[in-house]
Amino acid sequence: MQKVAIVTGANRGLGFETCRQLAKRDIQVILTSRDEAQGKAAVEKLQAEGLEVVSHPLDVTSAESIEHLTQFIRNQFGRLDILVNNAGIARDPLGDPESSIFNTKVSTIHETMETNLHGPLLLCQALIPLMKEHQYGRVVNVSSGAGQLSDMNTGFPAYRMSKTALNALTRIFANELEGTNILVNSVCPGWVRTDMGGPNATRSVEQGVETIVWLATLPDDGPTSGFFRDRQPIDW
Ligand SMILES: NC(=O)c1ccc[n+]([C@@H]2O[C@H](COP(=O)([O-])OP(=O)(O)OC[C@H]3O[C@@H](n4cnc5c(N)ncnc54)[C@H](OP(=O)(O)O)[C@@H]3O)[C@@H](O)[C@H]2O)c1
Repeated sequence: MQKVAIVTGANRGLGFETCRQLAKRDIQVILTSRDEAQGKAAVEKLQAEGLEVVSHPLDVTSAESIEHLTQFIRNQFGRLDILVNNAGIARDPLGDPESSIFNTKVSTIHETMETNLHGPLLLCQALIPLMKEHQYGRVVNVSSGAGQLSDMNTGFPAYRMSKTALNALTRIFANELEGTNILVNSVCPGWVRTDMGGPNATRSVEQGVETIVWLATLPDDGPTSGFFRDRQPIDW
């Protein structure tokens, strides 16, 4: 049976490359993006490479949008095997006044949490039940070293807190799913040359998605409840 994967925020950056790499492994990929036209354009690029990818709109901050996607997956494929919670925003980057905790607005924390934490929460709640129906699932939460409590620092506080919270989400879901063959992990892709990472980042998108794809395709005896970079466990 061909596996079905969904990747959020996949019209560009790490999400787009994750779709490419999963499709190359003969997985049916649903590339989602909040702008429908951008999603379609991204899918056309991958289809031109001979890859099996379909697009579907998804704004991870909208419960209605998540409900539409869930219905689409049910009707079209009847199963879901892989969920990559990749969509993310950083509204308080270095150089921005809000990058100091003394200036951080609660509204910025709210907005960041909505996308980086509440979105993955709602998607897990909606889609893991589908995984349970076939006793198989791989959930990859694209986090960041910026969320590591062991290395917590100043700079972009709203983003940092959202990724720390996302890591907590990973642990909580993984704990409730123990023994179900649904493996839930967090990943730090490293500093990657995307719109978010900027042109000076040290890694290419291909390098950035390597561990994301590994976690998305773990064997049944693979790890769960972990936080990984370069396929190695890292501190929370
Ligand atoms: N790049 C790095 O160095 C780095 C390092 C550590 C972690 N990460 C994490 O990796 C993930 C991907 O980052 P990236 O570098 O590829 O960033 P990016 O190039 O800025 O892409 C972010 C993606 O998220 C989407 N998105 C934002 N809000 C959304 C929403 N409400 N609903 C659906 N999609 C939404 C964007 O869609 P639009 O095009 O519509 O805005 C875009 O497709 C993020 O979670 C980020 O925190 C990145």
